[in-house]
Amino acid sequence: MALLGFPARQDYRGLMTPEPEKFQVALLLPNEERSIEVSRDEHIWDAALLLPNEERSIEVSRDEHIWDAAFAAGIVLPAMCHQGYCLTCAGRLENEGEVDQSDSLVYFPEDREAGFVLLCTGKPRSALRIRTHQQKQMRESRKQKNLLAPYSWSKD
Ligand code: FES
Repeated sequence: MALLGFPARQDYRGLMTPEPEKFQVALLLPNEERSIEVSRDEHIWDAALLLPNEERSIEVSRDEHIWDAAFAAGIVLPAMCHQGYCLTCAGRLENEGEVDQSDSLVYFPEDREAGFVLLCTGKPRSALRIRTHQQKQMRESRKQKNLLAPYSWSKD
């Protein structure tokens, strides 16, 4: 499937969705020993948000979008489409953090290389430190690479 000439997100899924870490747990039952596999799906990560005028820390679970967790903590970040397309919610990683962008409609490996993340559809895979309000910078980065940059004409 293609969206405006660009491959759709599933083309990138394998690159962006690390397998959840799994480990074995031995259960010593009264009459037998059983071994089960448990994944780390319940993880909650700390995310420091570097807002224009302050720094705030929030907790985000691995199945939660960072934008939603910020909103639940009383922080209203920019957003428009909430689908990982328009770039309005863009942030930029300021640590070596890992974000799963597989819920984003359009997200390129070049975005990851440049440190940009889409908070509306990004889920944490590590502790994060993110500078918010980076929509202009992400659009400019995309334009320089001849990648899709919706609303590049916007003054915001
Ligand atoms: S709000 Fe549109 S990409 Fe996040």
